[in-house]
Amino acid sequence: MSDPTVVTGADERALLARIPTALYLDGAWRSASSGRTFTVTDPATGLPLAEVADATPADGEAALAAAHRAQREWGSTAPRERAEILRRAFETVRARTEDFALAMTLEMGKPLAESRGEVAYGAEFLRWFSEQAPRIAGRYSTAPDGGSRLLVLKRPAGPCLLITPWNFPLAMATRKIAPAIAAGCTMVLKPAALTPLTALLLTQVLEEAGLPPGVLNVIPTTSAGRVTGPLIRDPRLRKLSFTGSTEVGRRLIADSADQVLRVSMELGGNAPFLVFEDADIPAAVSGAILAKMRNGGEACVAANRFLVHESIAEEFTAGFLQRMRAFTPLRGTDPRSTVGPLVDEGTREKVSSLVEGAVAEGATVALGGRSIAGPGYFYQPTVLTDVPPGARILDEEIFGPVAPITTFSTESEALALANGTPFGLVAFAYTTDLRRALRLGEELETGMLGINTGVVSNPAAPFGGVKQSGLGREGGLEGIEEYLETRYVGIADPFPAPEDR
Ligand code: SIN
Repeated sequence: MSDPTVVTGADERALLARIPTALYLDGAWRSASSGRTFTVTDPATGLPLAEVADATPADGEAALAAAHRAQREWGSTAPRERAEILRRAFETVRARTEDFALAMTLEMGKPLAESRGEVAYGAEFLRWFSEQAPRIAGRYSTAPDGGSRLLVLKRPAGPCLLITPWNFPLAMATRKIAPAIAAGCTMVLKPAALTPLTALLLTQVLEEAGLPPGVLNVIPTTSAGRVTGPLIRDPRLRKLSFTGSTEVGRRLIADSADQVLRVSMELGGNAPFLVFEDADIPAAVSGAILAKMRNGGEACVAANRFLVHESIAEEFTAGFLQRMRAFTPLRGTDPRSTVGPLVDEGTREKVSSLVEGAVAEGATVALGGRSIAGPGYFYQPTVLTDVPPGARILDEEIFGPVAPITTFSTESEALALANGTPFGLVAFAYTTDLRRALRLGEELETGMLGINTGVVSNPAAPFGGVKQSGLGREGGLEGIEEYLETRYVGIADPFPAPEDR
């Protein structure tokens, strides 16, 4: 019997033929108003995969108009109805794991096994928020002076613009779409131009799950600024949620100021991975591999700086090098692949220049350090040691399979190094000292901290950063709040004195 997880060229073609490549506006699949398309390429081969409709500013306007028209009715649907649409979509995404996984591997490059992991992760946002929709609650209380009643309602924030990145094409979409649906918001989704296919497949699933026309409108485009700029300035839009670089996020926040838009920003990171002298070293090595190599290092939560206590640096580095050496960079559809290509040539050039810069600043290449010749944008899994403090690679998000290691001698030095960055998304720390772990929870300036784990991402937890890593939280109990407005209704005392009744 053939193995259903082994992918052939015919499987790829069959899947690509099933994925819609049009814009999704007001419940209909349409060409771009210009008639133009753009090419989605496979980063493992550089070859074209599909032609996708390229939305224009007029298409963006049509998308927002549809979202705005649908808002009132959608905002008053029963929470259970919204929940059940999400639940059906969850079941379908899970049932179509192989389709979603292959779509992501083809357009983004990660190995199929990782893409399957993302299907489980991304689908879970649909299930989690299907469970949150019926739990949206307000409160009723008596004013402290007893003279009135205070009613607090939660209302949908209104039409949202959701801008998603290419690195987790499914999970970053469901992490925004699911809470918006649960809260009763309509939306315009602009997926990354590098990876629109997964978002379009998800849109098809949501349509089949019964999402009414106008609630979700999808506008892939190669003219992001020209298409989304006018939407951000349009008073019909009430909320912007963006995942991407701090540089772009900063501009979007500035553009949102005119309409005083609510914004959620999941921006860049510069995660420190701290290994203390009391750490369980084999566990720290395994955690380090996950924190660095999940998604090939193309994650804002990827460990960007390894800070290792000097007394165990040799042992940790030896174990880590052994595991890094074992990675097999191949096209993600190959069952032997354990790391895929980088997403495009620009990303690879940036990684190369960071590594070259670090070497010029005094770092030693213990493993890798080069692009891999041949088709696609592969880069060798790389370990740099003796990276001097102040090296550019320690200040910038690497977004690739490169691990710079530096040492420290005291906890306070480690904390100063870890916090010495304008970013504050996540930190990881390995220690067996409970008191130290609790101290780190209070002292590290990040929105998230993994203690003795290399992955913190969980749909049931609030994902997000502090400092220049962002605003707001996605997932957890907090995630739906980003899509809800708090409305207060003051009510005159309903129990006036008996003679007035
Ligand atoms: C990201 O890299 O943007 C998100 C990663 C995650 O959800 O784990």
